[in-house]
Amino acid sequence: MLDKNRLPQHIAIIMDGNGRWAKAQGRERSWGHQAGVEAVDRITSYCSNLGIKYLTLYTFSTENWKRPAPEVAALMQLMFESLEEETFMKNNVRLRIIGDVDRIPDYVRESIQRCERNTSKNTGLTMVVALSYSSRWEITETMRDLAREVAAGNLKPEDITEETIAKNLRTNFMPDPELLIRTGGELRISNYLLWQCAYSELYFTDTFWPDFDEHALDLALEDYQSRERRFGKTSEQVQNNQ
Ligand code: IPE
Ligand code: IPE
Ligand code: MG
Repeated sequence: MLDKNRLPQHIAIIMDGNGRWAKAQGRERSWGHQAGVEAVDRITSYCSNLGIKYLTLYTFSTENWKRPAPEVAALMQLMFESLEEETFMKNNVRLRIIGDVDRIPDYVRESIQRCERNTSKNTGLTMVVALSYSSRWEITETMRDLAREVAAGNLKPEDITEETIAKNLRTNFMPDPELLIRTGGELRISNYLLWQCAYSELYFTDTFWPDFDEHALDLALEDYQSRERRFGKTSEQVQNNQ
């Protein structure tokens, strides 16, 4: 049974398996991406009802730019079409984007940034869309920013701490995810939130993303709740709150 008092604050998801889901039904990959949007709506609204504060969705990776141009264009168009500001407002959901937005077509970037601005005061769930995102890109950008600060004399190398780095990552407005879910059966991280997932609980399921529903999320959350998070300590220390 799910304990509603012990839910993670932040869930990160690698939404994988759209293409294989479509192929299994003899359809085009784009059909799977379309169905993936419905799963996003379902899971966002469920997380919002559960009172989860942050949901970070891996929507398009830096490496995904290498896909065939028509698939990339269709994914960008889908991103544009699926952003319904009205729904964000109705559900009090705030949108944030992390990723290399300069690579995104102008019409998509402008509509996303408008939606980010217009939902910035919402106080419910924050839906974080990782778009044109990869963790190594993010860390590289952060290192450049810090190097510039050092070169300008504003920061001493010895003053760079783990906190300094975390504060300069694109995810600096939220806590690290307690739970990382990957759908679609692959057992890898694919360049996602490498710094932030240092101590996340990992959950992998064979379910393809378009089939991922409230029940599937409950199973992931129950599994998460069954784990003992030790952070390097012994089980005895954790049980005695030391
Ligand atoms: C995830 O599904 C969506 C994106 C990466 C954009 P895929 O498109 O990777 O689906 P599979 O893994 O080929 O089934
Ligand atoms: C990871 O899925 C990226 C997203 C879900 C957006 P991929 O399907 O691109 O991952 P790999 O390439 O199989 O690792
Ligand atoms: Mg995939």
